Amino acid sequence: MCGIVGYIGRQQAAPILLDGLSKLEYRGYDSAGIAVYDGTQVNIKKAVGKLKVLSELTHDGAMMPGEIGIGHTRWATHGTPTKENAHPHYNKEQTIAVVHNGIIENYLKLRNKLESKGYEFVSETDTETVAHLLDYYYDGDPIEAITKVIHRVEGSYALGIVFLEHPDVLYAVRKDSPLIVGQGKDGNLIASDVPAVLKYTREVCYIQNNEIAVLKKDAIEFFGIDSEPLEKEFSHIDWDADAAEKGGYEHFMLKEMNEEPKTVRDTLNPRIVENDVVIEELGMSDEEIREIKQIRIVACGSAYHTGVTASYVFEEMARIPVAVEVASEFRYRNPILNPTDLVIIVSQSGETADSLAALRLCKEQGIQTLGIVNVVGSSIAREADRVMYTWAGPEISVATTKAYSAQLIALYLLSIKFADVKGLLAKEEKKELINDLKKLPDQIELLLHNKENIQKFATRYIAAKDVFFIGRGIDYAISLEGSLKLKEISYIHSEAYAAGELKHGTISLIEEGTLVAAVITQQHLYQKTISNMVEVKSRGAFVLAVTNEGNTEVEKAADYVIYVPETSHYFTNSLAIIPLQLFSYYVSVGKGCDVDKPRNLAKSVTVE
Ligand code: F6R
Repeated sequence: MCGIVGYIGRQQAAPILLDGLSKLEYRGYDSAGIAVYDGTQVNIKKAVGKLKVLSELTHDGAMMPGEIGIGHTRWATHGTPTKENAHPHYNKEQTIAVVHNGIIENYLKLRNKLESKGYEFVSETDTETVAHLLDYYYDGDPIEAITKVIHRVEGSYALGIVFLEHPDVLYAVRKDSPLIVGQGKDGNLIASDVPAVLKYTREVCYIQNNEIAVLKKDAIEFFGIDSEPLEKEFSHIDWDADAAEKGGYEHFMLKEMNEEPKTVRDTLNPRIVENDVVIEELGMSDEEIREIKQIRIVACGSAYHTGVTASYVFEEMARIPVAVEVASEFRYRNPILNPTDLVIIVSQSGETADSLAALRLCKEQGIQTLGIVNVVGSSIAREADRVMYTWAGPEISVATTKAYSAQLIALYLLSIKFADVKGLLAKEEKKELINDLKKLPDQIELLLHNKENIQKFATRYIAAKDVFFIGRGIDYAISLEGSLKLKEISYIHSEAYAAGELKHGTISLIEEGTLVAAVITQQHLYQKTISNMVEVKSRGAFVLAVTNEGNTEVEKAADYVIYVPETSHYFTNSLAIIPLQLFSYYVSVGKGCDVDKPRNLAKSVTVE
């Protein structure tokens, strides 16, 4: 996730671009850059770090005169956060400059093709491919070049483009990444999100997929993918800038939950090639994969919970033993490691002190490590032997939701890959698994639509003292995360138990009306968990069940049932966690807690 802006008008562009970027910093903040046309050439300035570094470098834009320009704040995806990788990107002669938000999935193929035609690349980014591709197709007509490019690139993009030969026009186009056009009195703007333009205009047009916007000082035109002119309407924005930064959502957590379908898609799609799982960045031969005798997953908090889920998936699907450990324990217990182990460190931030220390310990002993990390260029991403990125974009809310969902996807993909290499997946089975993965984003979307019902249910538990989450197998792993989500943002005491374990002590805490959330998605364990639900219900518990569509039998033992769509039993966490995240969120809102910044917690735990 990155933020883009663009301006053309009668004012100086650079200060407007910097101001717009400052409203988009929540979309990325590892580097930034602007390109401004000064009457003779396109000047470009970039800086690593927060936007203020770029502002200082350009003297708040004063050093970059000109009335047309584009800007970018970056959340690194392809390539570490360096000046070379920062946007804008440009062609060799610097006559075309581009800013991009999204991921060009086929960039390697395009890059190889362009390199074979003599194009030289200076960055590791997917975006630079677009700049050179525009150069390749440009023959005096920018719209023709843009349409040729969008017919050839796969993936998601919102692009802002300037051509030196057309200094009075700003071009923009999008597919699956947000883009708006603002119509101002002194000029017109493009941006990834509304807050970036609110200081200059409240008249905004939302660009749809494959639409091209052509902005001049006093006019805006729109074209379709085949250059046909389009009529588009502008809407008047009457929200305040602060709310708009959250995309109109009340909290970042709700916004990020709503981004889960996209996050899952972005983490999944580039790794599914013609019905096969292709994890290029893994860089392991089939022989090396077959040599892995044990997987260790080391992480903290929610990331650890994705590891617990993955342990069930890997063991059953790929028949590889898995040990999952909390990093703060692992690092101090002198673990017995073997050269045939693969240690997977899962971390959203890539900076968690205990996870990083666990990684270093493994590396010291020569054990091969793989990081599953969200923040590109973070310490764990840099130091692990291999890194598989989750494409969740910046997560602002302290309680993780979308990064958690992306971590699950990365782990499922690895498991399918390993099982396949070991010859444990029949062709049909692999196809079905991949199909089920592809359906997850839409299924998550469906669950998110059910939020009003969950909100109503949640309001009944605002005053709860204790809540218990129970489940078996993968359902136990889901319970762990459901419980953590609730306690961290609502301050209600909650515990997760393996359903069969409750009666060995904890059941004594069940009183009349105590809420017990039973996760029951593993068909072979239905009857067992139903027995445990009956045990708590007969002791006065109010039982909420989260189960698969069709498992109506559960209604015998539950007081309230939330159904999740059918998927492979390996992937149910990705669906069952959604209502539990929503439940926690609405309990927290109902209690008036600081949802995005719960007390005593920090987003990135860089101390042990
Ligand atoms: C809970 C949560 C934390 C993190 C944990 C690890 O909602 O977000 O439990 O999962 O602190 O953080 P990362 O993934 O950054 O290593």
